Amino acid sequence: MEKNSRKPGATRRVVNNAAVEQDSVASDAVEDDFVDNEWYAILESRRLGKRPMTVERLGRRLVLWRDVHGQVVVQDARCPHRGADLGLGRVVDGNLECPYHGFRFAASGSCTLVPCEGRNYSITKGLNVASYPVAEEYGLIWLWWSARGSHSPADSGERPSIPWPDELPASLRGTSTRIMVWNVPFRRAAESMLDLHHAPFAHRRVLPGVGTLLDPYDVEVVKTQGAHPRDLIRTSGVLRHDDGEPYCGKGGLRFGLSVIFPGVVLGEFADRIQFVAAITPIDRDNTWIVYRYYAALPVIGKLVAWLAVWAEDRLVQLDDQRLQESSTPMHFDMRDHRYVPADAGILQWHKLYRARMKAQQAGRHPQLSVLAASSSGAAVHHG
Ligand code: FES
Ligand SMILES: [Fe+2]
Repeated sequence: MEKNSRKPGATRRVVNNAAVEQDSVASDAVEDDFVDNEWYAILESRRLGKRPMTVERLGRRLVLWRDVHGQVVVQDARCPHRGADLGLGRVVDGNLECPYHGFRFAASGSCTLVPCEGRNYSITKGLNVASYPVAEEYGLIWLWWSARGSHSPADSGERPSIPWPDELPASLRGTSTRIMVWNVPFRRAAESMLDLHHAPFAHRRVLPGVGTLLDPYDVEVVKTQGAHPRDLIRTSGVLRHDDGEPYCGKGGLRFGLSVIFPGVVLGEFADRIQFVAAITPIDRDNTWIVYRYYAALPVIGKLVAWLAVWAEDRLVQLDDQRLQESSTPMHFDMRDHRYVPADAGILQWHKLYRARMKAQQAGRHPQLSVLAASSSGAAVHHG
């Protein structure tokens, strides 16, 4: 955090020539699409036991199951035979069995048995299902998303790491985790991850008396460390009362939000309490969010984290959700909004998003650009 004695407003430091006001907002006339070649959290690990389950993420219905070694498998949930939901099936001898006619599928996606035709039936490749690269880390199941049809994250060498803040402890001790589903597109949910100055209004119930002036406010975009650097938007600021004086370095509510682009946010509010959230598109209109509190306190850490999550769930996120879901238009162009300097972190996110979408659209093979989304009415687990 920058400490200085410049005039309010003058402490707003924005790097990389961020556009900070509406005048400098360019059109973001790109199709709504998902950022690809990234890992997305799709489920809490503890939710997946012995039974397969179907979820909808990134516009696809996906079946998740564990093989004989407990390794997670993620495949298209639609049975290629006649379209049954494989998530209603069961795992038999390390294969996923369709609930309808018992066709079986290996973790690789190969169809291994067509019971009605007998063991000697020669199974064609047309009966295989698509399998996705998957990882299980930090108590979450992650899917490698590549709409371009490259189903391997290792195409360009070593597997990219899971996007996760270095600041968080490796252990899940002293943590509590929750799931939310917001009926808003990914981009709208992403804006809320970098919003510091909504707190005194949207969260008045839990933050009574918090100042409304965001000053100082710092935004920077840096690269993460490691073999697969990602863009990290770091924002921090002080919410304080607008007394017309420059910031003296003390007082106010100081907090920070950092986003590993596109969808992992770290929140730091107090010395020993951290918040992390990962957001994933369910489809064009809905977003799945997993969030977790870490409380680095001996013995009572778990309880404190649980209470923090409880309060967040009941008193904070409901307000965010209500305000988000009632904002219009749902699929906005940036020109629909009138951003102010305190939105600079959000503008940085949109800038990265625009650049990624441009690159994606330029590189995508036309016939692969249409996602094979299915919208059948079978039960889908959103939580
Ligand atoms: S629909 Fe799956 S085996 Fe027939
Ligand atoms: Fe909020």
